Amino acid sequence: MQDLPSDRDALQALLDFHVEAGVDLALDETPHNRFAEPKSKPAQPKVSPPKAEPAKPTSPPRALPKAAASAPEEVASLAREQARHAQSLEELEAILAGFDGCTLKFSAKNLAFADGNPEGRVMLVGEAPGADEDRIGKPFMGRSGQLLDRMLATIGLDRSQVYVANIVPWRPPGNRTPTPQEIAICKPFITRQIELASPELLLCLGGPAAQNLLGIKEGILRTRGRWFTYKTEDGREIRALPTLHPAYLLRQPLQKRLGWRDFQALRRALDGKE
Ligand code: URA
Repeated sequence: MQDLPSDRDALQALLDFHVEAGVDLALDETPHNRFAEPKSKPAQPKVSPPKAEPAKPTSPPRALPKAAASAPEEVASLAREQARHAQSLEELEAILAGFDGCTLKFSAKNLAFADGNPEGRVMLVGEAPGADEDRIGKPFMGRSGQLLDRMLATIGLDRSQVYVANIVPWRPPGNRTPTPQEIAICKPFITRQIELASPELLLCLGGPAAQNLLGIKEGILRTRGRWFTYKTEDGREIRALPTLHPAYLLRQPLQKRLGWRDFQALRRALDGKE
């Protein structure tokens, strides 16, 4: 590793440089050059059966056999089995809290499972928690969440009337995009969460939520504002609307008019007019 400067100001400047570059979390004492490391199998998370606190599922689903614990498909399959086991949202949250199959859990401060009202007619699903959500342990708590609340208010809704979650419930370090493996491992939990909440309408916030939940390949700018059908595993059909992510709208304020149109469409659907 490169020698660290010894004086305080230089150290502070180095730290500031990293924070400005988006490195806001230390994962290890020293950096790793992954390209230089031997092509051995990467260490994978140990997967343990759910710790069912506070609600206890009736009987714990199988834990992964140790030898197989390294395959992401096997972890995803265990996630499916555990998620299916949950009979209520409380149980699902407890199972997820005890699930060690996604490495994001170990760098995150908190699980950001949900916010709002699970009885609401609309469920909103975003991508992954950021720093504020991670600190508070709930989705959409930061600037994106504030914009989301303002957009909801324009159609007469607030968090007491909608249920909010993310496809990945732990913050990826430094707010990076979750990897396809992380999404695949977490997906059974969000699909079970949708099934248990059983909303009338689903609003997918941003491309990753729309693509992963609705199985669409096209980008969000092509799919936003179009109604799709989301099918739950138990065969229910839910009308689903992809829209632009509030974080994108904060970066591209001119696109807010498109977001506004989508929220109007959501209002019409709630009023039985679309
Ligand atoms: N962006 C998301 O997709 N989800 C959050 O909870 C916060 C920001």
